[in-house]
Amino acid sequence: MRPVLVLLVSTAWTMTAAQYYYQGLMDYLENRLLAIEDRMQLWHDQSHRYHTELQDFKKLTAEAVDGLSSEHGSLFKDLEGAAVRVDRVEREMDYVEAQTSPRACARQAEKVVEQGSGGWSRAEGRRRRGDDWEELHSRVSDCVEIISGIRSVKILKRVGGPKGMWTRDPRSSRVYVFNGTSGDVIYRFNSVQDFSRSPGLAGGTEIRLPFAWSGPGSAVHNGYLYYVMQEADTDLQVVRYDLMSGAVTDIAMFPVDSRASVYSLNPETVADLAADDEGLWLLFATSDSEPNINLAKMDPATLDIEQIWDTRCPRENAEAAFVVCGTVYVVYNTRLVSRSRIQCVFDVNDMVISEEAPLLYFPRRYGV
Ligand SMILES: *[C@@H]1O[C@H](CO)[C@@H](O)[C@H](O)[C@H]1NC(C)=O
Repeated sequence: MRPVLVLLVSTAWTMTAAQYYYQGLMDYLENRLLAIEDRMQLWHDQSHRYHTELQDFKKLTAEAVDGLSSEHGSLFKDLEGAAVRVDRVEREMDYVEAQTSPRACARQAEKVVEQGSGGWSRAEGRRRRGDDWEELHSRVSDCVEIISGIRSVKILKRVGGPKGMWTRDPRSSRVYVFNGTSGDVIYRFNSVQDFSRSPGLAGGTEIRLPFAWSGPGSAVHNGYLYYVMQEADTDLQVVRYDLMSGAVTDIAMFPVDSRASVYSLNPETVADLAADDEGLWLLFATSDSEPNINLAKMDPATLDIEQIWDTRCPRENAEAAFVVCGTVYVVYNTRLVSRSRIQCVFDVNDMVISEEAPLLYFPRRYGV
């Protein structure tokens, strides 16, 4: 009986030892797993925290961006308000200038010009204004009156760079804009109204010219663009460009001794063209040592030079000029910017002389 008991005891002991061994292993593995789980929980918590932080950050950024954009909006509104106020002040200044100008006189004719420039065709204008228009038209085309007053500057549109020019073809009422002081691109608008309503130059039709224009001295008349071209020290050239077909029809050459600009206060204006029913006029200087502005009359169809005059109007301190009915009016200023005024008049027919010409001031608020 004893050996059996011993065997039983030993078996029990053996089983208990194995159990212990496996239990220990299990405990160990379980601990390891728990440790891993803990670490995973930690990672999970951390990633959750990062995610939350990221979301908070995103929210903050979005709020900041919203705040900035609303601030931008209100700044923009302020700016617009300021622009409106500046415009109002400018109009008030125009009014005051018109009131204080010794020769200010309101004319019904001016209203007609204003409305006529609103994009009407001649026929339409005549129909609407009837006799007024006829009267003005005959007055202007017969050239029986000289300019007697300039009432105000009207701001039609701010567009492009600080220098440049715009002009209107009196026949088609189309507006042409020359941005800057040289280039080979111009912009066309179908009417003054289109021009003043357009968001900018991009609202117009771009016309690319075969040769670049030099200086703001171009003119448009009867579907033709006349412009000045001068490369480096070469001769002055006048180009006649057909706006309908898009082709250069003629080029006239003016020999010059050296490169000069026609007005000393506007050095970019190489030469200045004007076109009217009487012909095509060019104001120019053949050399920088020449003191006076020259005037040439050209045939608008062939660009033949018909006559050249020395206007005896000095280039020094000249700022701009314009031609009305064969009379050149030269606008002067001082280097210390003051009001511009017409101080020299030259009439090819000797009807208007400088001494008799009225003293005309231009309201002027810009350096350029
Ligand atoms: C107009 O000219 C100015 C410089 O004179 C330039 O900065 C601007 O980009 C021009 N605009 C267009 C539409 O060509």
